[in-house]
Amino acid sequence: MSNKIQNKPNFQFLIILIIIFSFSACSKQQTAKKDIIEENFEFAAKQLDYALKEMRIAVENESDQSIHERAINGWSELTNPRSLEPDGSLLMVPSKDWCSGFFPGELWYMYEYTKDEKWKQLAHRQTIILEREKFNDRTHDMGFKMFCSYGAGYKLTNDTTYRDVLIKSAQTLITRFNPVVGCIRSWDFNKVRYDHPGNEPEWDFPVIIDNMMNLELLFWAAKETGDKTYYDIAVKHAETTLKNHFREDYSSYHVIDYDPKTGKVRQKNTHQGYAHESSWSRGQVWGLYGYVMCYRETGIPEFLEQAKHIADFIFTHPNLPEDLVPYWDYDAPEIPNEPRDVSAATCTASALYELSKYDAENAEKYIKWADTIIENVTKNYRAKLNSHKGFLLLHSTGAKVLGFEIDAPLVYADYYFLEALLRKSNLSEKRM
Ligand code: GLY
Repeated sequence: MSNKIQNKPNFQFLIILIIIFSFSACSKQQTAKKDIIEENFEFAAKQLDYALKEMRIAVENESDQSIHERAINGWSELTNPRSLEPDGSLLMVPSKDWCSGFFPGELWYMYEYTKDEKWKQLAHRQTIILEREKFNDRTHDMGFKMFCSYGAGYKLTNDTTYRDVLIKSAQTLITRFNPVVGCIRSWDFNKVRYDHPGNEPEWDFPVIIDNMMNLELLFWAAKETGDKTYYDIAVKHAETTLKNHFREDYSSYHVIDYDPKTGKVRQKNTHQGYAHESSWSRGQVWGLYGYVMCYRETGIPEFLEQAKHIADFIFTHPNLPEDLVPYWDYDAPEIPNEPRDVSAATCTASALYELSKYDAENAEKYIKWADTIIENVTKNYRAKLNSHKGFLLLHSTGAKVLGFEIDAPLVYADYYFLEALLRKSNLSEKRM
C-alpha cells in the first residue's frame, strides 16, 4: 500500500517529463530546420557579394583573344558566371550559353527570401543583359536562360517588360517543335562523342532529357496569353519523352534521335553520360524535376507516376552513395573513385520538396531524402566564404566524358540549392 502511494506521484512526474521533453525536441527540430535555411541564405548573401566583385574583375580582364572570338561569332558581352576553369579562373559566359540565366535566378531567389531591394536591383541588372536571347531559335535552352531569370523577375515584380520578353521567348521556342515527332528539337549540331572515335552517332533530330526543363516556360505562356498552343506542345513533348526516353527500370537515355519525317526513333544515345546504356545522373533528375513540374501544370496522373518511378530508381540505386550526392553517372566504371555531381543532388532535393506536396502517402520519405541532401551538401560540399570566385557549392560535374567541368563548381548546382532551400522554407510554412 505505502509503495502504491509513493509510486503515483512518480508516475505523473514521469509523464510531465516526457511531455516537456517531446515539446523541447519538437521545437529544437523546428529551430534546426529554420537554421539550415537561414544560415545558408546568410552565407549566400556574403558569397554572392564576393561573386559580383570577382565577375567585375573577370570582365575587366577578359583577354583580347576572347574578345576577338566573341566579336567574330556575334556573341554578346560576357554576362554571368558558369563555372571555374581548371586553373581556378572564373568562367563567364555570353547570353547564348545555356547557363546564362542561373546567376540572375539566384539573385531573384535572394530577393524572394530577404525582400531586400538590393537583390532586386542586382537581379534586374543581370537579367536584362540576356534579352537578345528571346530571338535565339538555335537551341531548346530557352527555359533555362529566360525562365530562371525573366520568369523569376516577373513572378516577383509583375514588371510587364519581363512578361513581353518571356512571351517572345516562348514564341521562339515553339518554332523548334515538330508535330510529326511530337517534340521540340534540342540541338542543331548532329555529331558528337569525339572521345569515342569511330563511334559517333549522326543525329537527324536529337531530343535530350534536359529539354523537359524548358517546358515550364510554355506552360506559363499558355496561362499568360490564353493561347493553348503552348500548353499542347508542352504536353505532347512530355508524352513523347515519356514513351521513348525511358527504360523499363525508369532510368532515362540522354539523347533520343528521331526521324523528323516519320517521327520514328532512330537511335538511343548519350552525350554527357558514360555510355549510351548508362544512367547519367543529371539526366535522371532533369526527368524527375520535369515530370513533377508537368504534373503541377497539367494534373495528368501519368506524369506524377513517372516522377515517383524516377525518384524510386534514383533512391534504390545500389551506386547512390550514403550521403545521397550521386556520382556523375550511376554506371561510371571506377565507382567509388569517380567525381560526384552536386548539381544533380541539389536539383533532386528541389524536385522532391515539390513532389512531397502531390503524394501524401510518400511525402515524409521525399522530404527526408531532400533534407538529407541539403544537410550533407551544407556540411561537406559548400565552398569557404570568399573562395572559389563566389560559387556556393563545390564538386559538381558538367561533362566528364567531354573533358570539362569535372569536380568543379557549377552555377546551376547553386541555383537549385537556393531553390530547394526556399521550397523547404515554404513547405514548413505551408506557403508553397
Ligand atoms: N543541359 C546540359 C547539362 O545538363 O549539362
